[in-house]
Amino acid sequence: MKLMIINGPNLNLLGKREPEVYGSTTFEDYFAELQQKFPQVELEYFQSNIEGELIGKIQEVGFDYDGIVLNAAAYTHTSVGMGDAVKAVSTPVVEVHISNTHQREEYRHVSYISPGAKGVILGFGLQSYDLAIQSFLG
Ligand code: DQA
Repeated sequence: MKLMIINGPNLNLLGKREPEVYGSTTFEDYFAELQQKFPQVELEYFQSNIEGELIGKIQEVGFDYDGIVLNAAAYTHTSVGMGDAVKAVSTPVVEVHISNTHQREEYRHVSYISPGAKGVILGFGLQSYDLAIQSFLG
């Protein structure tokens, strides 16, 4: 089982970015916890602040990995290109968000990723990623 976690813009700042919304754990620390929790899964992690790099990574892994866990961050609400990339690949994509975007500003209620996603997990803090991985283990 080979899964790729893809994080979009500003998620490199987890731990120090708006901790009241996103918590105070860095993604690197959390990723190490995930690797320990799921030793049977080959887990990889990619982050970029650049839309084209995120699309490139979805295309690169999206025909042979078993799953993609995608937090497109702000691009969720703006990027037709990322939504199209999710639809274009054969690897199933689970969309995740740390916060419950539906409890936040109206512009966060729209997702260009959801129509192509296998499922959506949001609002559980960093645990959203854990739940997404579990969904692939069925
Ligand atoms: C986010 C929610 C988005 O609205 C926001 O732009 C982010 C993070 C989340 O994980 O809660 O950067 O995707």
